Amino acid sequence: MEQTFFIIKPDGVKRGLVGEILTRIERRTFTIDHLEVRMASEELLRKHYEDLVDRPFFPQIVDYMTSGPVVIGVISGNDVIQTWRTMMGATNPKDAVLGSIRGDFAQAPADGGATFNVVHGSDSKESAEREIALWIGK
Ligand code: CDP
Ligand code: MG
Repeated sequence: MEQTFFIIKPDGVKRGLVGEILTRIERRTFTIDHLEVRMASEELLRKHYEDLVDRPFFPQIVDYMTSGPVVIGVISGNDVIQTWRTMMGATNPKDAVLGSIRGDFAQAPADGGATFNVVHGSDSKESAEREIALWIGK
């Protein structure tokens, strides 16, 4: 069964959206295989976002992602990687369609600020395996 890695980011946890987001996962008939609350370290985020580390806005991403606890997890189901990306919506909430998590719960970033977009999801099978190993080690 295909698996993907997700994060409910600090804005989602602070705003009390954990239940809403887990409900959407369960309603979609995906199985929650792993679930955990934790603080992300800069060291871990540098590995997680290895393709973004050299971008000028990376320090803002670190500030954002370490601003409070995150909920991390693994979910499984048919085509869960692509389906979860669709459920999340586009990276910039202004482009995220209504009905998606980012389209329902977030707004476009302020100039020069990080994009507070509530959730993360692996973008490919390779990313999912890499991220599960990195965060959970299995
Ligand atoms: O999360 P997703 O895969 O949709 O987007 P990404 O391009 O992999 O970027 C990872 C995360 O970095 C985004 O979800 C945003 O929270 C943040 N980001 C940002 O703050 N500003 C940008 N210009 C691009 C990404
Ligand atoms: Mg990404």
